[in-house]
Amino acid sequence: MSKVAFLGLGVMGYPMAGHLAAAGHEVRVWNRTSHKVGQWVGEYTGEACLQPDTAVKDADFVMMCVGRDADVLEVAGVAYPYMKEGAILVDHTTASDGCAKQVGERCAAWGIGFIDAPISGGESGAVNGQLTVMCGGDQAHFDKAVPIIDAYAKAVKLMGPVGAGQLTKMVNQICIAGMLQGLSEAVNFAQAAGLDMDEVVGAIGKGAAQSWQMDNRASTMARGEYEFGFAVDWMRKDLGIVLDTAKKLGLDMPVTELVDWYYADVQDMGGNRWDTSSLLARLKRE
Ligand SMILES: NC(=O)c1ccc[n+]([C@@H]2O[C@H](COP(=O)([O-])OP(=O)(O)OC[C@H]3O[C@@H](n4cnc5c(N)ncnc54)[C@H](OP(=O)(O)O)[C@@H]3O)[C@@H](O)[C@H]2O)c1
Repeated sequence: MSKVAFLGLGVMGYPMAGHLAAAGHEVRVWNRTSHKVGQWVGEYTGEACLQPDTAVKDADFVMMCVGRDADVLEVAGVAYPYMKEGAILVDHTTASDGCAKQVGERCAAWGIGFIDAPISGGESGAVNGQLTVMCGGDQAHFDKAVPIIDAYAKAVKLMGPVGAGQLTKMVNQICIAGMLQGLSEAVNFAQAAGLDMDEVVGAIGKGAAQSWQMDNRASTMARGEYEFGFAVDWMRKDLGIVLDTAKKLGLDMPVTELVDWYYADVQDMGGNRWDTSSLLARLKRE
């Protein structure tokens, strides 16, 4: 069992840190808004820290899950000087590969290992310990970190050097964006044609049109339920990273760009925290 610090007890980090405690690790948690730390230690076995430096001191592993690039750089910047040499920082935030490389270089200068390790599987994946984790970093650091990450993951894969985890997450988001617009048009079409969407999924859900989104979202979309899941604001952040990276690679991304605009419409409708399947709400509005 290891000494593990977790920085950032948001929707994802809170249950992930809980799985580390349940696995028997010695866990210290820190969150910017301190009431979540108190709530967490009421629910799990671990130590509450009011400052990040106290949480990371002596830790073998420091896991973090915050918001975007600037947050990663800020929180990691506070952690480096207090982490012990040879410790490993694992960042589960969805950020740019450039951010990951910057953190990786700073970690190397401090004698710390670094893995960029964005996650997929949503809140339910975090709660159920069934996340998919795509990693970038050195094989030796990865091999040490896997048994810790395993506490909340069903799949962990090393994709290449630092930054490769974030690039893989971008591919994931490109797939989801196009898929959800297609599914939104399908549900809208089925309903306009007088079909029952649950019956439609029963008929086509085991064939070539099957997807995680169809299995898990078609029914909720048909009922107009969006107050859960992966927020549109986070998706726009992710698609912004994708489109910036595509520009650097000299690639056209017509569908991803279009879906990003559609999500901007959803934000204008007040759907900032709605689930990403709310692209359908935009079609219903027109
Ligand atoms: N939610 C999902 O389904 C999902 C799925 C896959 C990936 N992700 C990614 O995982 C990351 C976290 O998502 P989430 O849903 O857990 O977000 P969230 O509920 O909004 O939590 C964000 C966490 O980061 C902390 N934070 C943000 N900026 C910070 C800063 N500058 N300094 C210190 N702490 C900071 C927040 O602290 P406070 O409590 O003080 O605000 C909070 O603990 C994001 O990058 C997101 O894109 C999310």
